[in-house]
Amino acid sequence: MGKSSSIIRRDKKVMSTSYDRDYPFAFKKGAGCYMWDTEGKKYLDFAAGIAVLGSGHSNPSIVSAVKKQLRYGTHCAFPDFYSELPVAFSETLLRQMPSPLNKGRVFLSNSGTESVEAALKLAKWKTRRRYVIAFRHCFHGRTMGSLSMTNSKPIQRKGFAPFLPVKHVPFPYAYQMKMEPEECGDHCLNKLEKTMKQLDGNCAALFMEPIQGEGGYIVPPKSFVKGVRKLCNSFDVLLCDDEVQSGCWRTGKFLAVENFGVTPDIVSLAKAVGGGLPLGATIAKPGIMEWPKGSHSNTFGGNLLACAAGRASLDFMKKRRLGENAVRRGKEMTKRLDEMKEKYEIIGDVRGIGLMIGVEIVKSKRSRAPDAEARDSILRKASENGLVLLGAGKSVIRICPPLIIAREQAEKGLDILENAIKVINNGRS
Ligand SMILES: Cc1ncc(COP(=O)(O)O)c(C=O)c1O
Repeated sequence: MGKSSSIIRRDKKVMSTSYDRDYPFAFKKGAGCYMWDTEGKKYLDFAAGIAVLGSGHSNPSIVSAVKKQLRYGTHCAFPDFYSELPVAFSETLLRQMPSPLNKGRVFLSNSGTESVEAALKLAKWKTRRRYVIAFRHCFHGRTMGSLSMTNSKPIQRKGFAPFLPVKHVPFPYAYQMKMEPEECGDHCLNKLEKTMKQLDGNCAALFMEPIQGEGGYIVPPKSFVKGVRKLCNSFDVLLCDDEVQSGCWRTGKFLAVENFGVTPDIVSLAKAVGGGLPLGATIAKPGIMEWPKGSHSNTFGGNLLACAAGRASLDFMKKRRLGENAVRRGKEMTKRLDEMKEKYEIIGDVRGIGLMIGVEIVKSKRSRAPDAEARDSILRKASENGLVLLGAGKSVIRICPPLIIAREQAEKGLDILENAIKVINNGRS
């Protein structure tokens, strides 16, 4: 029995049965845009540890910053004592934020769900209102507050009620709603306005992923995101922007919402912000995060290794202008994927900004019916040929490689993906 099979067998015996693996890849090591499994096989990585490794695997600047900090200590209980590193990390982070968030305050945690929980609690504390609004297909995490909003797959909510008071409204998934993007955006804005009227004076915040991640890499039209901001202003509702997956230059801008010309009130970050170590950050505009001592805190927030890695990663991404690389590579990849869409009946839609690209696999272009089985077969086939990918939504292939990816690596990965799509497409007809 190979090493991978033996690890998988042991995993199946002791690990929670809730983990959801698409195919049997067992990680041994990573470097840049490559990973190796426990059998020594090399793979190109189009998943970046679920959009975490913007600066790539084992980035030397991050490794050296973590090693340096290890000499001084790993943890100082930052919420209870003072330390420079978490402050320096937060200052670096604030410098990347659009105005006026760059003059705001930061709360540090360890994951995406915690950075959303902090935003949710903060919005409730600030407004003393009961309800929040979230979108269909959204994913904000799996702890009870964020899960109350999460709506991307039924299995994520089934059996966990009761939830916090949340109203869900449609997000402009123009492709599946079979509408033109602007028309779809207007339709969703009407529904949102109705809900805001119903909840008038009783709604603390609206939570939005500017590009939905887990739900299927769904890109709304610009007019919709602008309309959301306007409605939040009219109804005095805080706009909480979940950038856990889309943030840190993945779409070119530091925050994906900047592509739509909108500034939120509260931002949640995690994943790429920690450079591969667990780190979450919630950032609020001035005048919001002024809650009293003891009202919100934790144990590991501001962990020294995570802050060392996070600061090194932010510096690296900024210095190397990885946002620009994301836009360049994203355009080339989307062009090639659009060409593939013309060739293969099972590719229904290609969408994205920068290196956050979704390819929707369907039963036929006419029906647009999601084909989860075909998508899963493509993921498996690509992995057999040395490309690591993840799924999203019902039948979307998500493409979110490290932002350092070179043109040749992107092309090589797309060759493998095209080959897998061709096999599944032709095998079906
Ligand atoms: C947009 C978004 N918000 C929140 C989360 C939750 O993050 P975590 O899994 O670190 O709790 C995720 C995770 O995928 C996410 O994509």
